[in-house]
Amino acid sequence: MLCGTCSFRALVRSLLLALWAALSGLTFLVLRPEGDGFVARPLRDVAWSNPSMAMRLAGALLDAQRMAAEPEKAELLSLRTATAEQFPGGVHMLPSRRRGQLLQCLCRRFEVRRVLEVGTFTGFSAFCFAEAGAKVISLERSSSQASLARAATRTAACSVEVCVGDARHLVRTLGEEPLPTFDLLHLDADMKNYQYYLDTCRSYGLLSPNALVLADNVLFRGLVANASFEDRGRVGRIVRSLRSFNRKMLRDSPDTEGAILPEDDGLAVIWTRP
Ligand SMILES: C[S@@+](CC[C@H](N)C(=O)[O-])C[C@H]1O[C@@H](n2cnc3c(N)ncnc32)[C@H](O)[C@@H]1O
Repeated sequence: MLCGTCSFRALVRSLLLALWAALSGLTFLVLRPEGDGFVARPLRDVAWSNPSMAMRLAGALLDAQRMAAEPEKAELLSLRTATAEQFPGGVHMLPSRRRGQLLQCLCRRFEVRRVLEVGTFTGFSAFCFAEAGAKVISLERSSSQASLARAATRTAACSVEVCVGDARHLVRTLGEEPLPTFDLLHLDADMKNYQYYLDTCRSYGLLSPNALVLADNVLFRGLVANASFEDRGRVGRIVRSLRSFNRKMLRDSPDTEGAILPEDDGLAVIWTRP
């Protein structure tokens, strides 16, 4: 049993540690759309409307840095192997080990209970969210990939439901069901429709007021930030959609703010202004 002085000291120590963690995490560099391009800034130099969300982001980035020394979980290693055997052409879609750890840290720091994911593939990111304690509904158009995802996430600790079909229709169907709201929306498929998914989820009331939105690949092979890149084909359509999504959600909207984490192909982290 702790005496009063000891418990007071423990409280002060944990407060100082939390403060140190938040402040040192605020030195992480993030990208923000400004003008027609992007500017890299330390988290602390951005004039946030919702600084408590930025502090949580800083905490998650620090947690992920600490977690980087940990080996990948056996279940995730087996999932990488099974994916390579069954879908060799899709291995590049699996998140990196660091990304998986970051998703878990974000989930914990933002106290996420329910996740809606667009793009399950074989269930890697869904597993990571569930490992962090969230219930996950994930949408995937390929039934064979969904089968592997279901098998991979069928463990006692995991609460993952995979719905098969085109996510553009599935989000509307979910919106018509009396479901509790989601605290995190993970956009990881069909990049040219990110704005549609987010707008549909919001208009159907699927997201909680403080929901976090994570949108992957928002730098799309560096092309999104390359002002001289123009293309009339499929790649050009994706790049134009992502440019418009980034600007709207991170630069122009009076309701949302956030930043792009530059690792991998760029992860946009978006939250609502107070
Ligand atoms: C980048 S992968 C998702 C990676 C996954 N989150 C993971 O952790 O491995 C994109 C997935 O989205 C699926 N997809 C693409 N467009 C879709 C759509 N309109 N509706 C549902 N799934 C879609 C693809 O079949 C693919 O499996």
